[in-house]
Amino acid sequence: MTDRIDFAALPDDFAWGVATSAYQIEGAVTEDGRAPSIWDTFAHTPGRTDNGDTGDRACEHYHRWREDIGLMRQLGVGAYRFSVAWPRVVPEGDGRVNAAGLSFYDRLVDGLLEAGIAPSVTLYHWDLPQALQDRGGWPVRETAERLAQYASVVAGKLGDRVRHWATLNEPLCSAWIGHLEGRMAPGLTDLTAAVHASYHLLLGHGLAVQAIRAQAPDAEVGIVNNLSTVEPATGSAADAAAARRMDGHTNRWWLDPVHGRGFPADMREVYGVELPERAGDAGVLAQPLDWLGLNYYFPAVVAADPSGPPPFARPVRRLHVPRTGMDWEIDANGIETLLLRLTREYGARRLYVTENGSAYPDVVRPEGTVADPERTAYLHQHVAACARAARRGAPLAGYFAWSLMDNFEWAYGYDKRFGLFHVDYATQARTLKDSGRHYAELIRGHPRRSTPRAA
Ligand code: IFM
Repeated sequence: MTDRIDFAALPDDFAWGVATSAYQIEGAVTEDGRAPSIWDTFAHTPGRTDNGDTGDRACEHYHRWREDIGLMRQLGVGAYRFSVAWPRVVPEGDGRVNAAGLSFYDRLVDGLLEAGIAPSVTLYHWDLPQALQDRGGWPVRETAERLAQYASVVAGKLGDRVRHWATLNEPLCSAWIGHLEGRMAPGLTDLTAAVHASYHLLLGHGLAVQAIRAQAPDAEVGIVNNLSTVEPATGSAADAAAARRMDGHTNRWWLDPVHGRGFPADMREVYGVELPERAGDAGVLAQPLDWLGLNYYFPAVVAADPSGPPPFARPVRRLHVPRTGMDWEIDANGIETLLLRLTREYGARRLYVTENGSAYPDVVRPEGTVADPERTAYLHQHVAACARAARRGAPLAGYFAWSLMDNFEWAYGYDKRFGLFHVDYATQARTLKDSGRHYAELIRGHPRRSTPRAA
């Protein structure tokens, strides 16, 4: 690897971690009282996912979690970010708590702590109980209130052992991809529904922060956003304006309200949809946070697209730039830029890279190894860029590689592999990839002296 990693720029208690989410790995979708989520419905709708893949079985983590903690130990990570499945814990979305579902996470947390791995819990990683979708889903206010009730249940059960909490994972995807572009559950293409969903997701975030803190006063609570650097495709004024709109759509819409700045005025105008605001909401949305999570994968390059949907900007595919198997452009400098932006523009006091990774079509060789030099290089370059950001003042406290193991990549099904471990879905065998070996070496190379901050 050519980029030197400036380990000395990272704090001693830096959290080296891996991340997953419930629907992508657990399987066991009808066991122990779990009810369907919008992703069960979406994945089972013909034509919605590649090959008709679903999360029915996934990585069978619900049954293999002990083995999977073993994989984390092999990597030497100090922290594990996972999500709780709302439809396991409160299957109808309101009211009745399913003790059997909740106790799965209880066992998982205990297992992690026994292994010396700090749990980092995300409450909502896209698996809304279908029952709540049937009553309107994120476009209605009730869903935000239900999120807070569910947060209270989970924090009440796990808050004595879990310090690190995220309310939402990538609300952008839930709102824009799920309600405007229709490529993710619930599969709508309705601007008003999308804008209202975005509002209620952030309202739900604020209410959930309050609910977690009420149950677990020592909790360290944050939100996880997927952000991108945005560049105009050309020097034209139209493309510059398109880049500004895309920045609003991707970044500012999600960051400004939780920092007490309200929803950006220019984007309100771009969407032209009245927000379902009520007196007092702005304060709820802007709850003080202990940390911000950045999920970073790729930069955006856009051109003006006056006849397209809001934000009237279309991605431009640059030629002769390196790309991952998702066809996403690779630019490690983007992670540095975004970490510094969160620090300087938003005054972040603590930051985590809560996801970062790449998909490639890996194969297990006859001798049982997986050579994935591109993923290894991607990982190394991005960790090096994180350390550069830290050196320049970003208060970076941890890095979570996406993902511990190959898993259900949403509408792309199982063909896209992001794992540091390869999963053979027929046998459920897990095989360490070379990138996983490299990550373990990086972790060993950081002379950290204390328990990760996510503990
Ligand atoms: O797999 C997803 C994850 O669920 C959310 N962030 C991006 C990952 C890769 O697409």
